[in-house]
Amino acid sequence: MNTFFISTPIYYVNAKPHLGHAYTTIVADSVNRFHKLQGKETYFLTGTDEHGDKIVQAAEKNKQTPKEYVDIISKLFKDTWPGLEIEYNRFIRTTDPDHIACVQTFLQRVYDNGDIYFGEYGGFYCFGCERFYTEKELQDGLCPDHQTKPEFIQEKNYFFRMSKYLKPLREYIESHPDFIQPERYRNEVLGLLKEDLGDLCISRPKSRLTWGIELPFDKNFVTYVWFDALINYITALGWPDGENFQKFWPNAHHLVAKDILKPHAIFWPTMLMAAGVDLYKGLRVHGYWTVNETKMSKSLGNVVSPMSMKDKYGLSAFRYFLLREMQFGLDASFSEEALVGRLNADLANDLGNLFSRVLTMTNKYFAGEVPEPGSLEKIDEDALELGFNALKNYQDLFPKFQFSKALSSLWELVRHLNKYIDTCAPWSLYKNKETERLKTVIYILLEGMRKIGLHLWPVMPSTSIKMLSQLGVDFDLQKVNLDQETKQWGGLKPGIKVAKKSNLFPRRELKLEKSCETKTEAQKVRKSQKEKNYIEFEDFVKVELKVGKVVKAQKVPKADKLLQVFVDLGENEPRQVVAGLAEYYEPDELIGKQVVVVANLKPRKLRGVLSQGMILAVQAKGKMELLTVSGEVKPGSKVS
Ligand code: MSP
Repeated sequence: MNTFFISTPIYYVNAKPHLGHAYTTIVADSVNRFHKLQGKETYFLTGTDEHGDKIVQAAEKNKQTPKEYVDIISKLFKDTWPGLEIEYNRFIRTTDPDHIACVQTFLQRVYDNGDIYFGEYGGFYCFGCERFYTEKELQDGLCPDHQTKPEFIQEKNYFFRMSKYLKPLREYIESHPDFIQPERYRNEVLGLLKEDLGDLCISRPKSRLTWGIELPFDKNFVTYVWFDALINYITALGWPDGENFQKFWPNAHHLVAKDILKPHAIFWPTMLMAAGVDLYKGLRVHGYWTVNETKMSKSLGNVVSPMSMKDKYGLSAFRYFLLREMQFGLDASFSEEALVGRLNADLANDLGNLFSRVLTMTNKYFAGEVPEPGSLEKIDEDALELGFNALKNYQDLFPKFQFSKALSSLWELVRHLNKYIDTCAPWSLYKNKETERLKTVIYILLEGMRKIGLHLWPVMPSTSIKMLSQLGVDFDLQKVNLDQETKQWGGLKPGIKVAKKSNLFPRRELKLEKSCETKTEAQKVRKSQKEKNYIEFEDFVKVELKVGKVVKAQKVPKADKLLQVFVDLGENEPRQVVAGLAEYYEPDELIGKQVVVVANLKPRKLRGVLSQGMILAVQAKGKMELLTVSGEVKPGSKVS
């Protein structure tokens, strides 16, 4: 099982690449990279679906020939993917000569096997869907997808004897639980198979449509677009005789969204059975992205462009967000608020901070060299064990397409390492000259960061390489041994120089464009904010913030981290506030500083000392920066 094949749907060229296409293709790229990390030889296929009525209509609208039109839009897709760090093996087009030949070979085989017959059919045809509907399937006589009246068409056509293979397919799905996943879609398909699905009309007369692949056994007809499109998956591998076909097809996985479940789960496997080709290994089905909980559509003007998200918030954040936010299989709502939220919390705060704190400390304490670790204490062993478990879970969940859970597991390690810093307090070890202990602590942190950086390669390839290079490690796919990473530590070589600083994920502000701010959009934003536990304005104004001046400060006895700070808030006496500043400031350094104090916090005792408020500060890069104001103000001035 040392190979892996993944495909995306081949996209219609009647729309530009948007968030939905980008999601599927980024997922395919990430999964493909994950298998590469596992040492497998992989093949990643994407491309464009270029035949059919829809394309002819779109070309006509643009006053172009179908060929001129498909060349332009197909190129748009092809050119978008590298900008999103998507690295495919082949970009297939259904107008490629080898595909046309492959479709014809396939059709001829099924025809020779007796599974294609000529017949007459009258039915309701929806041009939007490019398919016939039975009366039962229509809703009030309208196409359920397009809400348009289908045309009744009576014509002679070729049919694929799909009905013959429906029972064997059902049995196959029942005995291969992993064939279609997640489970909800497997069940949906088993449900569909209970109905009488009949045979499949697989041709269109040239009198009606010429933009398609000619049937090899009747030049008056072209192939129905779905029958043509699905075959792309084996064209790319050189079916029937190609070496790649032998190598990759046994491990072929198709990735699609729920909209095209039926063609992939029913048409395609029955087609393969009829042609005597083994079935693909697995179909993986994801849900739909909405935008602020509204369906994405051109007419609503809310189509999200992947390139603009990359430009605004950075590619790593965009890719991370897509994988982290959507529970694979379920629908998810895209919003820039949520993207910025994740970027600032998970990437800037948790991961970015970890890197910048530890690199700063390595430079300060060891002149930027990876120290040699000494013997381990319980806290170190616990950190290693937590790390191994987090990585094991990640490695288990990622190939099962459970990206959100996989990433949340990896973040347990990220957060744990941040906590480990706070608990081990390297600055105190440094101050107290406990150099051996300090070396171990810093080494464990750097080694943990190396493991995290490496595991993030499938999700954010160039940032992962940057993380590793900041740790003095060259990324070399050949040398990666993922399995070992969950059992052993010590991959980072002592003595290597690390980067002076790290600015992996600068915090970003939300950049909403005015055009989005329609009334309904604003309502949606408000709704989604509530769901995220944002506080109400009325709650916020209850907090009384005041600017004061520090007049005196002293250590709190028997508390390493605490200072007793006296702040003039313009009241009769200075307030005394107990603050966790002792590791960062000598008491005298604080005197004269203007600080922001939460002035109406209920007083309480900390280590036996009364604290009458809270001083606001920001922990950044291993330091504690006090919140202050840009000019001198009267003590007790309210922050508004
Ligand atoms: N051409 C066919 C597929 C043939 S495959 C042999 C087609 N093309 S499509 O352009 O309509 O692409 C559909 C696919 O685009 C979905 O299955 C999904 O991968 C992606 N998405 C398009 N919109 C989407 C969302 N709003 N959300 C998530 N993915 C969606 O169907």
